Amino acid sequence: MRPSSEIITKEVERTIRTPLNIARIREDFPILAQRVHGKPLVYLDNAATSQKPQAVIDSLARYYSSQNANIHRGVHTLSELATYEYEKARGKIKLFLNASDSREIIFVRGATEGINLVAQSYGKKFIKAGDEIIISAMEHHSNIVPWQLLCEQVGSVLRVIPMNDDGELLMDEYDKLLNSKTKFVSIVYLSNSLGTINPVKDIITRAHKRGIPVLVDGAQSTSHLLVDVQDLDCDFYVFSGHKVFGPTGIGALYGKTALLESMPPYQGGGDMISSVTFEKTTYNALPYKFEAGTPNIAGVIALGVAIDYVRAIGMDAIAAHERELVNYATERLSATDGIRIIGTAKEKASVVSFVMENIHAHDIGTIVDREGIAIRTGHHCTQPVMKRFGIPATARASFAFYNTTHEIDELVKALVKVKEIFGA
Ligand code: ALA
Repeated sequence: MRPSSEIITKEVERTIRTPLNIARIREDFPILAQRVHGKPLVYLDNAATSQKPQAVIDSLARYYSSQNANIHRGVHTLSELATYEYEKARGKIKLFLNASDSREIIFVRGATEGINLVAQSYGKKFIKAGDEIIISAMEHHSNIVPWQLLCEQVGSVLRVIPMNDDGELLMDEYDKLLNSKTKFVSIVYLSNSLGTINPVKDIITRAHKRGIPVLVDGAQSTSHLLVDVQDLDCDFYVFSGHKVFGPTGIGALYGKTALLESMPPYQGGGDMISSVTFEKTTYNALPYKFEAGTPNIAGVIALGVAIDYVRAIGMDAIAAHERELVNYATERLSATDGIRIIGTAKEKASVVSFVMENIHAHDIGTIVDREGIAIRTGHHCTQPVMKRFGIPATARASFAFYNTTHEIDELVKALVKVKEIFGA
């Protein structure tokens, strides 16, 4: 039997053209052809989750209809096929992130679980009372709370790099925070609520000068920027599959081999062991040591297909198209009276957050939804960012490669309606 993902890769490569043919690409995403409240769907909530191409949807159905079996556990044909597809997907993620070895890719539920894994495994072993962990003022709750939990458990202290009014990190303040007590830095690459691209390479270099490991939260960056973990030289990198056009409930943690080897398992169970007796258990080799229990096999295989899809388009082409979208949205929204953009960093991607004078973000979201437009409103799981800017919430348009400037025009039209309804 020929492995299905090879067939899918070839199909995907045949149908995608460069330069980007957006109309053609949109045909691969069945959900985008829908109408919402009688209007064509304008999906601008990609930072919350991205839509799925037909190839990804098909791969889930194909797995369950013709390949379903447990992995690493059987000698029968289906089990061997499922294992082959699962491990092949690991190889695709290794290539996508440019990791040096497939054993450095650990499948997890998503970025959140990846950070919790590192905090609980690396953190509990190597971070002690009085040690300091540095994060930034623009972290998602998933890169704050796991470290706070660790701090409560071991008595370490959380330190925060502040940002300026544009939403850019103050690197001089970062330098001041780095000291002999600093034992870890965990930093977001691309802010989900501001769109800021942080200078993670520089942040990593400065930490490494002092021998401090760095985790990069790639929840947003992975679908918008070309990521090369060896070039960044990050020690850990996490991302979620559902934000990279794959299924929900699957993601990956990259970690340098030596660090992963030095860490205890995060969870115990099947497949993560080498041998078990009631007296003593020894653990499996990487990456299995961190993959206890039956994993999300279908999700992993479909994530591999999503990565094939993204690579077939090309991260450079994606980044260039999205840069145009962000610039266009910024221009159009700035030119509309009563709208203020939150997050005006020089280096930005994929996200435009804004507030409207005297109108709550939730009202904006509800009214534009009636026009078929999906945006996210609220604190975006970054309450400290809202506090920093003195606002309760923002409305946020976030883009993917299948979005168009026409959709931004539709958003602006709907926002003018919002103003009219509120008599603003
Ligand atoms: N973190 C996701 C967002 O920004 C859910 O919407």
